[in-house]
Amino acid sequence: MCGIVGYIGEEQAAPFLLSGLEKLEYRGYDSAGLCLNDGGTLVVKKSKGKLTELKTLTHNGSSLHGTVGIGHTRWATHGEPSDVNAHPHLSESGRFAVVHNGIIENYLPLKEKLMDKGITFRSNTDTEVIAQLIEYYYQGDLMDTIIKVLSRLDGSYALGVLSKDNPDEIIAVRKESPLIIGLGEHENFIASDIPAILSKTRKIYRLENDEIAVIKRDGVSVFNTDKEPVQKEYETIEWDIHAAEKGGYEHFMFKEIMEQPKAIHDTISPRIKDGRVVLNEISLTAEQIRSFRKINILACGSAYHVGVVAKYIFEKILRIPTEADLASEFRYRDPIVDDKTLTVVISQSGETADTKEAMKEAKRRGSHVISIVNVLGSAIAKESDDVIYTLAGPEIAVATTKAYSTQLAVIYLMAIYFGDLLGKITDTEYQNYLSELLMIPDKIQQILDNSENVQYLASQLFHADDVFFIGRNIDYALSLEGSLKLKEISYIHSEAYAAGELKHGTISLIEKGTLVIALATHEELIGKIVSNMKEVQARGAYVLCLATERHQELKDVAQNTIFIPPTCDMMLPSLAVIPLQLFAYYVASQKGCDIDKPRNLAKSVTVE
Ligand code: AGP
Repeated sequence: MCGIVGYIGEEQAAPFLLSGLEKLEYRGYDSAGLCLNDGGTLVVKKSKGKLTELKTLTHNGSSLHGTVGIGHTRWATHGEPSDVNAHPHLSESGRFAVVHNGIIENYLPLKEKLMDKGITFRSNTDTEVIAQLIEYYYQGDLMDTIIKVLSRLDGSYALGVLSKDNPDEIIAVRKESPLIIGLGEHENFIASDIPAILSKTRKIYRLENDEIAVIKRDGVSVFNTDKEPVQKEYETIEWDIHAAEKGGYEHFMFKEIMEQPKAIHDTISPRIKDGRVVLNEISLTAEQIRSFRKINILACGSAYHVGVVAKYIFEKILRIPTEADLASEFRYRDPIVDDKTLTVVISQSGETADTKEAMKEAKRRGSHVISIVNVLGSAIAKESDDVIYTLAGPEIAVATTKAYSTQLAVIYLMAIYFGDLLGKITDTEYQNYLSELLMIPDKIQQILDNSENVQYLASQLFHADDVFFIGRNIDYALSLEGSLKLKEISYIHSEAYAAGELKHGTISLIEKGTLVIALATHEELIGKIVSNMKEVQARGAYVLCLATERHQELKDVAQNTIFIPPTCDMMLPSLAVIPLQLFAYYVASQKGCDIDKPRNLAKSVTVE
């Protein structure tokens, strides 16, 4: 998604703005720009392409004077990537400059009205409408003007605004799209995310919806849209500055794969006390939990894949009908939800628009919502009834790994916690689950320490054009994630398929040399998946099998095998996903892909 950075202080702003935007590159973008308020003159420099273009254009910021400025990296939603569509956008006379993250859903009628009044537009973006509206309504009081403009906008926005007439302030506004304010000494900052300002300050305010901040060198005032002051508590960011850096790894993705043992440990440890799972975040009474007749899991992408794993686990252990729903589908199909439905929302960023809106739909229909979120204070976290934070730390790579794994860990904790409350698991089973869960970080570390075979296989197989991931039961759920990981960073087409379903049509695509990755960790169905492996081999497929160490006989079935340590059935995905993440990483690496910032993708899709 778009990235916003702003600076007001005593130093030249442009170099910092550029370095702050670099820290936000992971959000995905196609153009970038800066606007400096140089003593009442607004100077804009912007260009399509990567930040290097902008750096060249501005001599690394040195040619842009002024100690007040805003910067932006754009992920196009309205208007193709181009110099003119890049932010910041100026009003017609150049009196105001705006950067924006989000979508103005009613920008077209607003634009038409302004054009009818003779106002000339330069771009075909929704954002320019904001700048033009500010100028149109401006009567001399910028705050009043901003409030008036906001009342006309429908949609989501994080805004940074500069005004020629107010050379010593930046205005920041938030509605749905995240925006933070960094608090320094005689300097202050705005940013879409923490990494952009962490080199300057650890003290931040998180703007809430419909809050307007006036940022000056020596102070920040926050107001609501009634122009009433809002008292903010600052938050101190504890992240190690390198937590948001690569830490010596070539890619954030590899760093985050390697961080998984610690991320899972950090996520489960605070919630296991004296041999019991403690989920104080859940406000439900045992009686309320017993009253649920259905569980709906809402999410997108990899988070949805966690939901599919959770479906198998919850139905197996809790014996409650459970649906994993694509958030973007759920909200438009008049879903059957009531107060006897428990809704579990899963989101790394906590800002995914589809997921957020689906959650609101479930709440409107009376459902209690528990969210599993990685980004503290994010919209989904704030708007759910209960939030269980994954403690994975910042996940920078677009392709999620440690967030996926820590989300799975929270699902296991919930299954044990609810299973016990509902009387569905014995004490022995409870303790077995817990001891297996506590061993997961070490077992993952064992897999990571012995991943040469995966790297070798990737070097042999990265030329594949089409890849099929097949599995049954919880292996099918995992195949969804294995397939997405591969295609989103290596751009190789792949499909996840329920192994038993292949013969009902798609097997027609299997031909000599087709790569089929067969997930065979689920104990009960090993015989069935072996049949499916032979089925595709009979049509020429090359089968790479992933199984637990207990089944060495599979070496005689598949062309190649990857083994993982055994664990209880429900936790197998936590181990089996590691080789799949590594396989995707090494294949993409062999292909020279932009692993941390794959084409067309964004880390958090805050638009529908
Ligand atoms: C996964 O690698 C992708 N980055 C994407 O599918 C992601 O999982 C999806 O957009 C959901 O994001 P969220 O978890 O932040 O809601």
